[in-house]
Amino acid sequence: MYSRPKPRSMPIDQGRRLLLRGAACVPLATAAGCGGGSSFPMGSMGMGGPVGPIVSSVTEHSLPILPLDTGVLDPSGTRQFALRVQRGTTQFRDGVDTPTLGYNGALLGPALRLRAGEATRIRVLNDLDEATTVHWHGLVVPADVDGGPHQPIAPGASWEARFTVANPPSTCWFHPHGHGVTGRQVLSGLAGLVIVDDPTVDPGALPRTWGVDDLALVLQDKRFTPSGQIDTRLSADDRLSGYSGETLLVNGVTGAVWQAPRQWVRLRLLNGCNARTLSVRLGNAAALLQVANEGGRLAQAVARSSIALAPGERAEVLVDLGSVASGAEVALLARSVDTGMGMGMGMGMGMGGASGESEVTALKMRVSLPRQADAIAAPPSALIAAPAIVAAAGATSRSFTLEGGMMGDLFTINGRSFDIRRIDVTLPAHTVEVWRFFNATMMAHPIHVHGVRMSLLTRDGAAPALHERGLRDTFVVEPMQTVAVAVQTPAQASSTPLMFHCHILEHEDAGMMGQFVAV
Ligand code: C2O
Ligand code: CU
Ligand code: CU
Repeated sequence: MYSRPKPRSMPIDQGRRLLLRGAACVPLATAAGCGGGSSFPMGSMGMGGPVGPIVSSVTEHSLPILPLDTGVLDPSGTRQFALRVQRGTTQFRDGVDTPTLGYNGALLGPALRLRAGEATRIRVLNDLDEATTVHWHGLVVPADVDGGPHQPIAPGASWEARFTVANPPSTCWFHPHGHGVTGRQVLSGLAGLVIVDDPTVDPGALPRTWGVDDLALVLQDKRFTPSGQIDTRLSADDRLSGYSGETLLVNGVTGAVWQAPRQWVRLRLLNGCNARTLSVRLGNAAALLQVANEGGRLAQAVARSSIALAPGERAEVLVDLGSVASGAEVALLARSVDTGMGMGMGMGMGMGGASGESEVTALKMRVSLPRQADAIAAPPSALIAAPAIVAAAGATSRSFTLEGGMMGDLFTINGRSFDIRRIDVTLPAHTVEVWRFFNATMMAHPIHVHGVRMSLLTRDGAAPALHERGLRDTFVVEPMQTVAVAVQTPAQASSTPLMFHCHILEHEDAGMMGQFVAV
C-alpha cells in the first residue's frame, strides 16, 4: 500500500522552518482580534497557535487508499476485526527509509467499516516494544473499552474491545491514547479510520464506493530531521503551541495525486495533525458541499468556500468532478490557520515562508476515469441528520475553564492539570447536562469528550452555524470564548474514567485533560 513511485523531480521540502515565534506567551487584556483564519507577516510577535510554515512538495506520489476492512461476521452475528500495532519502514522521501508505526502495516491503518447496531469485536495485538492503547475517537462505547489511558496494552499483549455500534453513519477514527505518549505515537504513524455505515439511512444518497467515489483523506503534518527521520522532539514552542511540521502529508504521502472519476465524489476529511488547524478549499473555487461533521450527517448539505478543521475534527464533503473537463485536475488546497489572538507570530503562516506561498496543494484530483455506473446523479437536497442532543430547561450545568500556555508550559482545566489518579467530575449516567467551556487562553483549543453524545448549543451566546449542528465529539473554543454544549452522559454507569481534553496532543500530554465517571 505504501510503496512509492520513482521520484520525478527534486525531493520534498528541505525542512525549512522560516518563521520564528516569541518564546513566551503574554496574556492580553482584551478579546479583540481573536479567531482563526487571518494571516500575519513573518516575524511579528503573538500568542501561541500552531506555527511554522508548511511547504509544497514538488514530487508527486499516488494517493494511498486506506484499506477498507469490513471485518468478518461470525455465526453469532458479531463482526470481528483484528488490528496489529507494529513497527515498519516508510519512504516519505524517495530512497530514504524512515522507521514508522502503523496498524496492520507500516504507517497509519485501515478504515474499519462498522455497521450501526451491530455487535462488534476488535482484537488488538501490540507488537511494539512499548505500551500503547487504541482509542475509538467518536465512537460511543462503554468506558472500559474506550481505549483511553486506563486500558494500556503491554508490549506483546493483546486487548479486545467489544461493543454494539451506537453511532449513526459517520467518519470516526482511532489512535493511541497512552498517558503522556499520545503525541509521539500519533506522530510516528498510528492513526486509522472508523467508518460507521447504516444501510437504512438515506441509501444511495451519498457516494459510497470505497476509493472510487468515497475517499478518506488523513491530513497530517510532520517535521523531518536532515536524515529524513520523523522529528518527534518537542521544542519549547511545540510545548506551548503544539507540534508543527513543515511537511503536509495526505494518507502518508506528500504531493498526493488521485485518479478520480468524472462525477460527484465524497471526501471524508480528517485533521490528524497533532496541533495544526488546517483550512481546505478547492483550487477551482467551487464550493465544498459539506454533508457531515464529526457526529454524522447534517440535515442538509452546506456549500462552503473553505472548511477549517482543528485536530481531531472531521468533515464529509461532496465535490463535483462531473462538470470538470476529462483529464483536468482539481486541487484540494490546504492552509494553516492562525488559532491565536491576533498579532500572530506568523501563524497564518504564509506557509511557504520566503516564497510567500500561502497555501499548499494537499491533493491533486486528476479526473482521468469515466463516470462510474453507481455515481450519484446530484447531491441530495436533504439528508437524514444525526439527531442532536437537546437539554431540558433546568438541566444540570457545569463549567470548565481552559487555562495555561504561559511560561510554565502547564495547561489546565479548572485550574488542575491531568492526574490519572484523580476523578474530576462524577455525573449521573443517562442524562443530559449543559457543559460550558470558557477559554481563558490566547489560543484556540479543540475540546473533545469521550463516551458521550454532544451537540453545540451556543458560541458566546449565538446559535451555532449550520455545519456545526447535529452531533459533535470535538469542537473548537476560540480564545476568550464560551461554548455551551448539551451532553448526553454515558448510558451505563462505570467506575472506569472517561476523558475530556484538548485535542492539541501536546496540550493533552501536558495536562489539559480531565476525567469523569458516570454513576
Ligand atoms: Cu482523539 Cu481523547 O482523543
Ligand atoms: Cu476520543
Ligand atoms: Cu489546547
